[in-house]
Amino acid sequence: MSELQDKVRKHTFDGIQEYDNKLPNWWLWTLYGAIIYALIYWLAVHTIAITRTPVEQLQVEMVAAAEEQLARAAEGGLSNESLALMSTIPDRMAEGKAIFLQYCVVCHTESGGGSVGPNLTDAYWIHGGDLMDQHRIVTNGVPAKGMAAWGNQLGPRRVEAVVAYVYTLRGSNVPGGKAPEGELYEEEATP
Ligand code: HEC
Repeated sequence: MSELQDKVRKHTFDGIQEYDNKLPNWWLWTLYGAIIYALIYWLAVHTIAITRTPVEQLQVEMVAAAEEQLARAAEGGLSNESLALMSTIPDRMAEGKAIFLQYCVVCHTESGGGSVGPNLTDAYWIHGGDLMDQHRIVTNGVPAKGMAAWGNQLGPRRVEAVVAYVYTLRGSNVPGGKAPEGELYEEEATP
């Protein structure tokens, strides 16, 4: 009984006195539990990283959703839309960029401004500005003009990735880029 009686501290401030009771065990355990949970969480998520942080989890899910949308768009075959969609997926664009840096920069330069090959950052295209036109050119090349056919060497998946990557350069009109060649292509507004 005595333990349950309210103890009161001796001091008084502004006429207010404080209890000095022992905190209930259930309350203390929620505190200890929260501390233990925080330690385990810290170790698991940040120190040994056996699981993803919520932000990473969100990114993974966003990419998965975009991939799913892409797979649905590609069911009807490759199209301008599915290639444009691919250009919004960071992983694919990292892949496309790596391919571009490895195979294409010798003639189109790193920025896409062009040297031997034409400027890929302006709105003028020799062989048409549709993504499917570009896909055709990259696959089959223009051997007479020095643009190789990349279809066999890279395979379909990598050709798609690099074409989608080139699309991300379009319109950047890099300074010092090669003068426009071909015809002005005006992209149709997406419905
Ligand atoms: C050896 C030089 C060379 C390499 C390497 C090269 N290209 Fe080209 N590319 C050219 C030339 C030259 C043209 C212009 C062809 C013409 O005049 O018909 C061209 C044209 C293009 C076009 C069409 C441009 C337009 O205006 O219609 C695209 C798209 C393109 N290249 C993408 C690529 C990609 C992607 C790669 C890498 C996988 C690549 N090229 C590698 C030389 C090259």
